[in-house]
Amino acid sequence: MIKIYYSSTKKEAGVKAANSIAELLKSKPDAVLGLATGSSPTAMYDELAAMNKRGEISFKSVKSINLDEYIGLSADHDQSYAYFMKENLFGRVDIDMANTNLPNGLATDYAAECKRYNELYDSLGGTDIQVLGIGHNGHIAFNEPSESFSKGTNAVTLKESTISANARFFASADEVPKMAFSMGIDQITKSNKIILLADGEAKAEILERALFGDITPLVPASALQLVKNVEVYGDEKSLSIIKEKHPEALIY
Ligand code: F6R
Repeated sequence: MIKIYYSSTKKEAGVKAANSIAELLKSKPDAVLGLATGSSPTAMYDELAAMNKRGEISFKSVKSINLDEYIGLSADHDQSYAYFMKENLFGRVDIDMANTNLPNGLATDYAAECKRYNELYDSLGGTDIQVLGIGHNGHIAFNEPSESFSKGTNAVTLKESTISANARFFASADEVPKMAFSMGIDQITKSNKIILLADGEAKAEILERALFGDITPLVPASALQLVKNVEVYGDEKSLSIIKEKHPEALIY
């Protein structure tokens, strides 16, 4: 079941998504959070940090596992996802860093790193909530459009479109890593709840295709239609096409 929550702004969408996570943490303080990077979840992380500061929620017993990491970047590279997580969430809340997990971007034995991450995912018992953004081509984590839905953590080669979308964070497109470790679609969709965040006009078309179009690995996010509990938090722009074609689907 997919619930699509409409907000006017990215900030408002982020606050609603943070409330959903806060609700879980209040009933299950040792929840396992599957986390994402990129620009989509930043307003949600801001609100989670503010709630933590206000003493409304605690991350002391939370465990986290991130979706992905660039291959070739160390944790202290300012474009690594490990660095992003410290800046946007971990460094701002009372989480125990020993309970946070990301793929090791410097691993050179890709198969061994994927195996380690799969075992880690299993040892955590999967995720209570998985946070996601969506790429312009429908990717979730770094599962790019392909012939089949991926299984388990993979070392993936990024599509040109993903490299150019992410070039805005680097000095040039040449500096964007060409590969990444990414959790598989099966691991993502096994979560008890998915929180998908989107903002901006550029996400409007793919969001509608992913949530209402054919279920196909050519649009990896379309796999979310098979998940029991999905909450989508979008701003006015990202939900514009859904509002036009499926107005009844929006929750205000
Ligand atoms: C990030 C991730 C990616 C992003 C997606 C959207 O951990 O897995 O799939 O969620 O590329 O990126 P933004 O949010 O920057 O538009």
